[in-house]
Amino acid sequence: MQFFIDTADLQEIREAASWGVVAGVTTNPSLYAKIGGKLADFEDHIKRICETVDGPVSAEVTADDRAEMIAQGEHLAGLADNVAVKVPTTIEGLACCHALAEEGIAVNMTLCFTVPQAIMAARAGASFISPFIGRFDDIGEDGLAQLSEVVDAIANYWPNEDEEGPQIIAASVRSVNHVTQAALMGADIATVPFKVLQQCVKHPLTDQGLEKFKRDWATVR
Ligand code: G3P
Repeated sequence: MQFFIDTADLQEIREAASWGVVAGVTTNPSLYAKIGGKLADFEDHIKRICETVDGPVSAEVTADDRAEMIAQGEHLAGLADNVAVKVPTTIEGLACCHALAEEGIAVNMTLCFTVPQAIMAARAGASFISPFIGRFDDIGEDGLAQLSEVVDAIANYWPNEDEEGPQIIAASVRSVNHVTQAALMGADIATVPFKVLQQCVKHPLTDQGLEKFKRDWATVR
């Protein structure tokens, strides 16, 4: 499983990239708003992120109808070679995905919650499909179980690594356990907020072990 970072914060992206584990970035309108991003700076900001990481950087369309979504998607894809256009899993979104994929543009189908949505996104030509875990948990459902179903269903139809199929991005990740379970069930990628990435490295036994090594080393003369 690869790690993407789920943020629009350049400092977080730079820091996580320095650990050598970040293979891509996902942003969305909420994440851009959260860092106080300005509309006029949005495209330059996406370009800066694309210069910071080599892997795919998801930038999301905000229009509702397919024609405008496609135009936005083409424009976003023109900002850098590693832009993946993020498109919501709706009927208009599927049509947009299909059109962009025909042009060879990488699409990340977002706000995906069910197996039929994921299969349709894959058939429409998505390069990435993002089932959301945490938002399912928020409504009292089991987000990990839903992700597992999507991973299994996609693997039924794109079983060969040679054959081009969509990559599943475990999204709306809120905890270390989400990351663990996504890896165990075979998600291709987990897109993880910076705080959870930090939590993934931490373990109390690592800290205790390090303290002991330091204490013992101090006795060595
Ligand atoms: O990439 C979008 C997704 O990860 C959003 O997560 O926590 O807002 O549900 P969240």
